[in-house]
Amino acid sequence: MKLIVEDLSFNYGPKLVLKGVTMDRAEPGMVTAAIGPNAAGKSTLLKCIAGLLRGRGRVLLDGRDAKTFGKDLIRYVTYLPQENPVNAVLTVFEAVLLARQHAGSWQVSDDDLNAVSEVLHDLEIDDLALRYLNELSGGQKQMVSIAQALVRNPRVLLMDEPTSSLDLQRQLEVLELMQRVTAERNMTTIIALHDLNLAARYADHFVVMREGAVYAAGAGHEVLTPEMLRDVYGVHGTVLLDQGGVPQVTALGSLKRGRLVPQETMI
Ligand SMILES: Nc1ncnc2c1ncn2[C@@H]1O[C@H](COP(=O)(O)OP(=O)(O)OP(=O)(O)O)[C@@H](O)[C@H]1O
Ligand SMILES: [Mg+2]
Repeated sequence: MKLIVEDLSFNYGPKLVLKGVTMDRAEPGMVTAAIGPNAAGKSTLLKCIAGLLRGRGRVLLDGRDAKTFGKDLIRYVTYLPQENPVNAVLTVFEAVLLARQHAGSWQVSDDDLNAVSEVLHDLEIDDLALRYLNELSGGQKQMVSIAQALVRNPRVLLMDEPTSSLDLQRQLEVLELMQRVTAERNMTTIIALHDLNLAARYADHFVVMREGAVYAAGAGHEVLTPEMLRDVYGVHGTVLLDQGGVPQVTALGSLKRGRLVPQETMI
């Protein structure tokens, strides 16, 4: 589904958190990375698109106002939250199967069972199928959340920092899988990410958020620039293209109060 966000604003109480956000390039088959510092509004934006928060402005899905979908919106749009809420006394298999039961039916079909097995296999967590959620590590829980999102086979998938608890290998594998599944299923995927180099490698498009507004949008090489690092993150850094033409960001130091705090840190 083509996703367009038009002039979206949102307040938490008196506090204006989204300030007229417009996004018009989230296409089916593409992964969009939503980046920006803490409190920039990434999660709020994803929640508004998912209909969990009601903002002002418009969210259009294939040209139709998301508000008019009512309860059906959940069939098309899945939001994977930043926090892992999976703690019920369920096995991994049961939890993923439950996530699939969103169409209002309580009956379980062979299709449903196969879809659960397939997603556990794709994510290489088949061995966890009969384990209880409350006995899993943080990263394993995060993998289950990702399985729950994928098994619903949404048209629009919104993932809020899905790799924050994963080890290096899993981060790469999950994002590679997301890129592949997005293309295969012609899904519209938006992933909020803090790791700019991971985003550069796996996202087709970027939306850079700063203080509740879109600072820039475009391809990695267009938005990942030293100027953006300075203006949005307040850091001094370099951006080099690797052999494949993928931008590599190195943060060299914080620019707090105009001072450069020297530090060789990768972000
Ligand atoms: N439930 C809430 N009630 C009041 N204010 C909130 C609430 N949730 C978020 N905020 C505020 O809204 C602003 C944007 O928060 P949001 O969670 O969207 O940021 P974010 O870009 O996702 O940040 P992070 O990278 O830390 O996850 C912040 O100033 C935050 O304090
Ligand atoms: Mg967030």
